[in-house]
Amino acid sequence: MAISNEEIKNIQNSANIAEIISSYISLEKKGKNFFGVCPFHDDHNPSMSVNVEKGIFTCFVCHKTGTVFTFVQDYLNISFLEAVKVVADKIGITLSAGYKTVSKYDKHYEALDLAIKFYQNNLKSSEGAPAREYLKNRGISDEIIDEFNIGFAPKNFDTIVKLLTSKGFDENTLLETGLINRNNTLYDIFRDRITFPIHNARGNPVGFSARIYKDVDEAKYVNTKETVIFKKGEILFNYHRAQNEARRLKYLVIVEGQMDAIRLYASGIKNVVATMGTALTSYHAELLKKTNVKIILCMDNDSAGEMATLKNGEILENIGCDLSVLRISDAKDPDEYILKHSKEEFIDAINHATTFFDFKMKLLKKDKNLNKVDDVSKYINQVIKELNKSNDEVLIDLTVNRLVEEFNIDKNVLLNKIIKVETPKIVKVEKTPKKKLSKNHRLAATLLYYMMNDVKYIKLYEQELSYIPDRKYMDIANDILAFYLKYNYINIADFITSEIDSDYYSDVLEIIDSNIDTELIDNEYVGIINKIKIWIDENKIEELKIKLQNVTDINEKLSITDEIARLKKREV
Ligand code: CTP
Ligand code: MN
Repeated sequence: MAISNEEIKNIQNSANIAEIISSYISLEKKGKNFFGVCPFHDDHNPSMSVNVEKGIFTCFVCHKTGTVFTFVQDYLNISFLEAVKVVADKIGITLSAGYKTVSKYDKHYEALDLAIKFYQNNLKSSEGAPAREYLKNRGISDEIIDEFNIGFAPKNFDTIVKLLTSKGFDENTLLETGLINRNNTLYDIFRDRITFPIHNARGNPVGFSARIYKDVDEAKYVNTKETVIFKKGEILFNYHRAQNEARRLKYLVIVEGQMDAIRLYASGIKNVVATMGTALTSYHAELLKKTNVKIILCMDNDSAGEMATLKNGEILENIGCDLSVLRISDAKDPDEYILKHSKEEFIDAINHATTFFDFKMKLLKKDKNLNKVDDVSKYINQVIKELNKSNDEVLIDLTVNRLVEEFNIDKNVLLNKIIKVETPKIVKVEKTPKKKLSKNHRLAATLLYYMMNDVKYIKLYEQELSYIPDRKYMDIANDILAFYLKYNYINIADFITSEIDSDYYSDVLEIIDSNIDTELIDNEYVGIINKIKIWIDENKIEELKIKLQNVTDINEKLSITDEIARLKKREV
């Protein structure tokens, strides 16, 4: 069942658009509006303004505009109704009972949710005692067990199969969740393991990572296989919990393992996500870039971690993330580091994280004997190769000077090897040229903007004009009128939402976009109406002139000429 317009309107009115948007990107208040870096184009300066009063956001570079729903819909890449549900959840409004399947994966989420709860309870059962003991020995408190919904999957081969089929889930859905599999008979994937639920960016449960808890000759972790909702290349462990804190502190730590993330979180560093041992994808990088904060890359302290730092760093840098690298020492991973040292020492290490370039320089030196000319030459050439990937002139100059000092080499020799990079690595989205509107069309756009803001302007339009000599603008005016007649009020945000499927939606947005800071002044509106009347008259005059050329009857000619004269007189 669909949600009613009333319900949508209620959610929209109750939601503070700046609050909702700032749960995804950082916003700063300037004057009466909020500003943030636009996530819909490759923005580097805050180009997006959010107007709480009007309930809309607008980017003055890429011209994206819309309501709180439009933002959530496009930011999370979900349907309109899903966006309504996300916003409703955030402000604590429960949608009417009839409203259920907003996402085609709701059943999957529901099944996974039940499994999470079941495993959680099972951890507290007697069968879960050894697993509880294991977690306790690792210093995982009960609070953290609850916060991360850590559980225990029983040994029995079909507990989840039985539980979920008894709840009415069909086999296909269950197979698609990756919770069970079929081999003659249905069986549970996770057995006799500690379960760590994994959520997507929106906080929906999508899978599990399940760990052994005793000395057995089995893979340390069994994870949900790739499913319709669990794509390893798109999921970052703890992303949904970390976002707010990351924005507050303006940085986000990436670690490899979920235990590392859990340890950091438990120690109070909540702005942490884990790649769960997989290679970082450009999708992950996009997700991280969207948070708009500094990224601290902190992989394990082994050579695999070093390679991961190099690969992941490259991806993050190419996408334009503000990146720092933290290489821990004296512990194999961040989890162990915190246990051995302290949260404070880890934060101190974060504060001393190096640039990605410095990390690469250090790495290049690692396997070389810089007392040997051969190795020095190799090293310098590799550094130059790295510099040639950069267009940061300051970095290039500083590094060249460093090499000159360190190896007593002629600066010109190095400079000759530097290739000037002409095109910047990140191609900025070109400002989409605004349609050049004629004077009359600009007036009409402003007229429509007034009408979208206040019923009295709609009424005045109906009394005085009820016509615009342009098909598109006329249609939009009629849409506004229709909205008013249907709901007996008007408000920009609601109007855009109601017109979301209209062909003219983008034109409406442009009208709003170009008028966003227009103050509504009654006298000006009357002036606009009068000018549009003149535009109407001008059009009539043109029509009459054409007609005049085609009539032969002298009386008719005279009356047309009179009419033209009358219209022209009215114009002045
Ligand atoms: N991983 C996996 N399967 C394995 C080993 C690792 O899926 N057999 C993934 C897990 O998501 C794990 C991550 O890779 O969290 C990092 O691996 P590793 O460093 O070995 O695990 P830790 O996070 O250190 O886990 P623990 O401390 O529990 O040993
Ligand atoms: Mn570990």
